Amino acid sequence: MKKRLGIISFFVIIFIAFIVVWNYSYEQGLEEAYIPIIETPTGNFIPSESGVFRRFDDAGIDYLNMPVDENHQRTLDTYYDNRAYPGAPPSIPHPVIKERSFGGNTCIQCHQNGGFVEKFNAYAPVTPHPEMINCRQCHVTKNTTSNFIENGFEKPEPPKVGEGANNALVGSPPMIPHQLQMRESCISCHGGPSAPKEIRVSHPDRINCRQCHLPKQTEQPNIDTNTFLRQFEKLNEK
Ligand code: HEC
Ligand code: HEC
Ligand code: HEC
Ligand code: HEC
Repeated sequence: MKKRLGIISFFVIIFIAFIVVWNYSYEQGLEEAYIPIIETPTGNFIPSESGVFRRFDDAGIDYLNMPVDENHQRTLDTYYDNRAYPGAPPSIPHPVIKERSFGGNTCIQCHQNGGFVEKFNAYAPVTPHPEMINCRQCHVTKNTTSNFIENGFEKPEPPKVGEGANNALVGSPPMIPHQLQMRESCISCHGGPSAPKEIRVSHPDRINCRQCHLPKQTEQPNIDTNTFLRQFEKLNEK
């Protein structure tokens, strides 16, 4: 009798444990279906827009009050020059301390908040993605300025900026001519002394950039695959 009771209660316990575990994982699974609301110092926001608030509390007002350092400004020309195409990860234009390292904390020292770096005689550009600590997975040092092999690759033209390029009326907020993925933290690129002067914003203190600036939804042209094929053929001929 005792033995039988023991077996029965053993199964009852297993059954209860199963219900508890299943219930827990079911609830956990449900959680993911919600879009979490992110809390920021200025309110609660949905994740896709929360990036615009990322550097605001420490940087926005500082940038507004900073005098312009005329002698150390970046321009869009040098900005694009360091990228294989608009939106590509820029190469590292300065020496790195350890050749075999992913970077991480070393890079963050200068690139999280920027600031003037005496030995490079330039302001460190602020990274919009300080959380991606394997920096050199995507950013490589510049070892040569010539190509290994001649090819027909041409950089696509970047979107135009300035008076009338992206705004409907004079004085209306220009639309955002670029994609937003990895570009959520607007003032990293648009605010402060390291921002290229053509896109340095006159109002880095305005907190919610996307309240006034909307993404420009233009139709994407079809990519002509023949052009790519021809380029490959040209490469193979050599
Ligand atoms: C001592 C400060 C300092 C450290 C440490 C540092 N950088 Fe820089 N970095 C700079 C400065 C200053 C510039 C701007 C150079 C210029 O404009 O000539 C720069 C430029 C760059 C750029 C080009 C950005 C652009 O918009 O064209 C990249 C990419 C970069 N650094 C990546 C890195 C990585 C990756 C590491 C870590 C391995 C690193 N840096 C470590 C100061 C630093
Ligand atoms: C997953 C790839 C990836 C990783 C990892 C990464 N980056 Fe970038 N980074 C990019 C790309 C792509 C861009 C160009 C962004 C654009 O133009 O939209 C960029 C741009 C930058 C810029 C220039 C911002 C500007 O003005 O356009 C700096 C500075 C930079 N990264 C530094 C870093 C540092 C420091 C780290 C490590 C903490 C890092 N990156 C990790 C891909 C990466
Ligand atoms: C990685 C750097 C980077 C980030 C982050 C970034 N931008 Fe830009 N932005 C640029 C560059 C570079 C241009 C110039 C055109 C181009 O190359 O796309 C530009 C152009 C613009 C323009 C057009 C300006 C004009 O005069 O026509 C607007 C508006 C703009 N960005 C708004 C934003 C907003 C809002 C955010 C945040 C959601 C943002 N950008 C995030 C780099 C950036
Ligand atoms: C209250 C609305 C509003 C907000 C919020 C706002 N902007 Fe603007 N922005 C404008 C208007 C209006 C213009 C056109 C200004 C002009 O033509 O003088 C403009 C112009 C710009 C330009 C073109 C260069 C310039 O300064 O004229 C950029 C780049 C830009 N804004 C980026 C940003 C970024 C980044 C943020 C977030 C920090 C932001 N804006 C927040 C209304 C706004």
